[in-house]
Amino acid sequence: MTQVVTETMVRVENVHRSYGDGAGAVHALRGVSFEVPRGELVALKGRSGSGKTTLLNIVGGLDTPDRGRVEVDGLDLADLGEDGLLALRRDRVGFVFQSFGLIPILTAAENVGVPLRLRRADVREREERVDLLLSLVGLSGHARQRPAELSGGQQQRVAIARALANSPALLIADEPTGQLDAETGHSVMELLRAVVRSEQVTALVATHDTNLLDLADRVLELGDGEIIESRALPA
Ligand SMILES: Nc1ncnc2c1ncn2[C@@H]1O[C@H](COP(=O)(O)OP(=O)(O)OP(=O)(O)O)[C@@H](O)[C@H]1O
Ligand SMILES: [Mg+2]
Repeated sequence: MTQVVTETMVRVENVHRSYGDGAGAVHALRGVSFEVPRGELVALKGRSGSGKTTLLNIVGGLDTPDRGRVEVDGLDLADLGEDGLLALRRDRVGFVFQSFGLIPILTAAENVGVPLRLRRADVREREERVDLLLSLVGLSGHARQRPAELSGGQQQRVAIARALANSPALLIADEPTGQLDAETGHSVMELLRAVVRSEQVTALVATHDTNLLDLADRVLELGDGEIIESRALPA
């Protein structure tokens, strides 16, 4: 497999994805094309059902398109196969979900360390990286608390730290502030804004929340499975 370092982190070309067939088919994506430049924070907006989650799953290698082409970090996902997609998700892409997705019986530090364990990083390296990540998300003092002992915003910060554990090239977040009140949501989005600047990561973030859009470098809007707007915001 050849990999070229590109200025474009994500390239999506004419992607289609339908669920079901015949009269009952749902055309979730109908010819979507866009690019995410390396190092940018791109917000993906659009009404409920417009195809945001479908698109993020395809970009992150959790689902495959019926038609079209997807490139992430210079790799054509169609060339990867199951093992390659697994490696992509483990090594190059970090995911953050609306529902945080933390493991309840593990502490904040242990949750952040999960991807490092999967990679069999040695204990010392793991502990150092976990400390660094918890401090990056402002939770150094909360390392030993379990998710149920943390606020929603703190849990999402832990999830962001975990998503960054293996230094992914691309962070994909699906409505990361959807379960948070406006103020907490804003601080989580500001954290994402900060890590895109400090961690050399690129982020694609689906959000309903129009107040968060001004923190992005670019806003894409999906409407009924198509990109209906793409605009760069002034720095
Ligand atoms: N597994 C599935 N089977 C059938 N239809 C699906 C499936 N997943 C999504 N859809 C349909 O595809 C369309 C796009 O759904 P998607 O979840 O991508 O929207 P969304 O923009 O993320 O919405 P929301 O803002 O509510 O999360 C919807 O019409 C949805 O009903
Ligand atoms: Mg969704």
